[in-house]
Amino acid sequence: KQVPMIDPFGRSIDYLRVSVTDRCDFRCVYCMAENMSFLPKKDLLTLEELDRLCSAFVAKGVRKLRLTGGEPLVRKDVMTLVRSLSRHLESGALEELTLTTNGSQLARHAADLAACGVKRINVSLDTLDADRFRAITRWGDLDAVLKGIDAALAAGIAVKINAVALKGVNEAEIEGLVAWAHGKGMDISFIEVMPLGDIEPSRLDQYLPLSMVRARLGERWTLAESEHRTGGPARYVEVAETGGRIGFITPMTHNFCESCNRVRITCTGTLYMCLGQDDAADLRAPLRASEGNDLLNAAIDSAIARKPKGHDFVIDRRTRRPSVSRHMSMTGG
Ligand code: GTP
Ligand code: 5AD
Ligand code: SF4
Repeated sequence: KQVPMIDPFGRSIDYLRVSVTDRCDFRCVYCMAENMSFLPKKDLLTLEELDRLCSAFVAKGVRKLRLTGGEPLVRKDVMTLVRSLSRHLESGALEELTLTTNGSQLARHAADLAACGVKRINVSLDTLDADRFRAITRWGDLDAVLKGIDAALAAGIAVKINAVALKGVNEAEIEGLVAWAHGKGMDISFIEVMPLGDIEPSRLDQYLPLSMVRARLGERWTLAESEHRTGGPARYVEVAETGGRIGFITPMTHNFCESCNRVRITCTGTLYMCLGQDDAADLRAPLRASEGNDLLNAAIDSAIARKPKGHDFVIDRRTRRPSVSRHMSMTGG
């Protein structure tokens, strides 16, 4: 087993998030502007290049690979990449190959994903109300997502729901979401909205600290701290009455950077060492410069050596500008 990369703060980097496309079939209000201009297709790394890049990270000790977007399942022929990457599961080099999806195309791909060794996926879903769903995603079809979730469960894939907690939007539905998810045997995580990308000013007004969510949930159910860990930023509680888990992802109120184990690459081959910082390293040039990986490995090493200590998201309350102007859809979280 390969030893993982170590950053300047002694953290092991064994989790790579790969945004395979910046495009998405939804336009969630906290993620994208309504009129997004997407990258020209010619700027994207090919699936073969993405495979080479991911494989170089696996050779450097990455044990968990998550495909993200935009929406990963809208990338043409993305299943070719998943199938190819699954060889690292078979060899034992990789512990987990997974994705974070909006679920819209999941019904079509669920069986294939399971066949490629995908055991667990995260589906983003903030509401069970079709009209509210359309308001949040701007035009998404809730029914397609629910069908996608059922198809994944039927294929034997464990599904975790991700819901961004939004004040005055899905706030009143939080207990309902938990009851629904746990009723289907799914864990659910709530996420504090982060100020990434220069979009809707309303995002600032919709910010809801999860301490309030947790307190409300604690009035309805018996919650116990859980030792459960997935290698992601969520901290979990177990709900005695339902037997399910609730995760809390609190980038704003309780930053989890001290245990950060991840880096992310975009679909153009840019490596971001932190979601909340702008510093990045270009991996496309060294990838394309030669068939061998020496230049690429050197570029990765020098980037890891300057991974920042953490994020410090701030929203300027006067200008209402986010601290990071790149949209979430570039790095997929
Ligand atoms: P699990 O493997 O299930 O733990 O998934 P995960 O939480 O690692 O990934 P997922 O794609 O489900 O991300 C959930 C939320 O966590 C998203 O909103 C991400 O943007 C956010 N997130 C993941 N990693 C980081 C990080 O390093 N920093 C910050 N600030 N947020 C992150
Ligand atoms: N803040 C917090 N979470 C966000 N997501 C997208 N944009 C934001 C934001 N600004 C979430 C999506 C998905 C995950 C990858 O990131 O809902 O669950
Ligand atoms: Fe698409 Fe996910 Fe962004 Fe919504 S949050 S617009 S589903 S990438």
